[in-house]
Amino acid sequence: MKGLILSGGHGTRLRPITHTSAKQLVPIVNKPILFYGIEALKEAGIYDIGIIVGDTKDEIKKAVGDGSQWEVKITYIEQEKPLGLAHAVLTAEKFIGDSPFIMYLGDNVIKGGVKEFVQEFKRQTPTAQILLVKVPNPSQFGVAELEKDRVIRLVEKPKNPKSDLALVGVYLFDSNIFRAAKAIDYSQRGELEITDAIQWLVDQNLNVKSHVIKGWWKDTGKLEDLLEANRMMSDALETKIEGKVDEKSSIEFKVVIGKGAVVENSIVRGPAIIGENVTIQNAYIGPFTSISNGCKIVESEIEHSIVLEGSTISKIGHRISDSLIGKNVEILGEQRRIKNHQFMVGDNSKIELI
Ligand code: DAU
Repeated sequence: MKGLILSGGHGTRLRPITHTSAKQLVPIVNKPILFYGIEALKEAGIYDIGIIVGDTKDEIKKAVGDGSQWEVKITYIEQEKPLGLAHAVLTAEKFIGDSPFIMYLGDNVIKGGVKEFVQEFKRQTPTAQILLVKVPNPSQFGVAELEKDRVIRLVEKPKNPKSDLALVGVYLFDSNIFRAAKAIDYSQRGELEITDAIQWLVDQNLNVKSHVIKGWWKDTGKLEDLLEANRMMSDALETKIEGKVDEKSSIEFKVVIGKGAVVENSIVRGPAIIGENVTIQNAYIGPFTSISNGCKIVESEIEHSIVLEGSTISKIGHRISDSLIGKNVEILGEQRRIKNHQFMVGDNSKIELI
């Protein structure tokens, strides 16, 4: 069985961060989202993995390499335009050949991985197997209608959803999916939809199985979902302190502090992760915060936020919360007062709060 991870597309909902970077490389607990997918496939025994890439291919190739860091083999497949998930499948036809495969959307995170679903698919050998989850906002997803566990109808982002069962971004297929993707038309939003391709399989009376998952899953396309994913994944942290923490500082609950990091006269309250070569001075780092390598947090307070590499936050008088801050950002203030700021700031920005 092969794996296909989709990491092309535009990250419009995470702009401005995704003006300069791939959305699949935004870190959750200091690890790119995409890596969770690769690890989930490896854990399910899938070592031959194709990654669909688009405009951000260079950055993705640089981060993932040839897969040897996970002992898997990565093949990059270039999709010239993000023309839909079924278009991505067609682009990968040569790589997949006649093997069954698991398709994993590169911005999805599933706690607990996919091993169980891969085993179920291998045991039952349906034409396709989809994963579903009950959501409060089905119209933002592909939505399935079921009769028992048989799929009868799938609609992409319906205005008036007939059920609350959303399609999770993990699909298992045999090679009939190529016939389906070739048979369908482009949707109103100009994409070849995988939802329509699976509906085509249903219409041919082929065996499309569904599995309603109980566990936690997130499509990290939007800020609040990304922060929630960071919160959920932070829970699994175990304290590990490799940097230097002075005696005036207090480290509370589950905290990871990377090599070369320095924490002075500060409180770090976990679950939280501080990357390598980070400086924390006279600061408060609150729960569910992930600070990437090379950042500086000085005389400031931050919680429930993600800060990307090389950014500086200094002398901000208000507590920063619920924020995603890009790479090499500078947020510079002058005083310390406790109020609240919320930021979504792109890479290489400079904000001065005076
Ligand atoms: O996350 C689950 C949802 O994913 C499903 O419920 C929907 O049925 C499914 O269509 C999909 O919806 P999204 O609108 O969230 O898909 P998005 O455009 O965000 O693309 C998902 C991933 O696939 C993302 O990592 C980018 C990549 N992609 C996307 C397109 C359209 C490609 O690699 N190529 C593409 O052409």
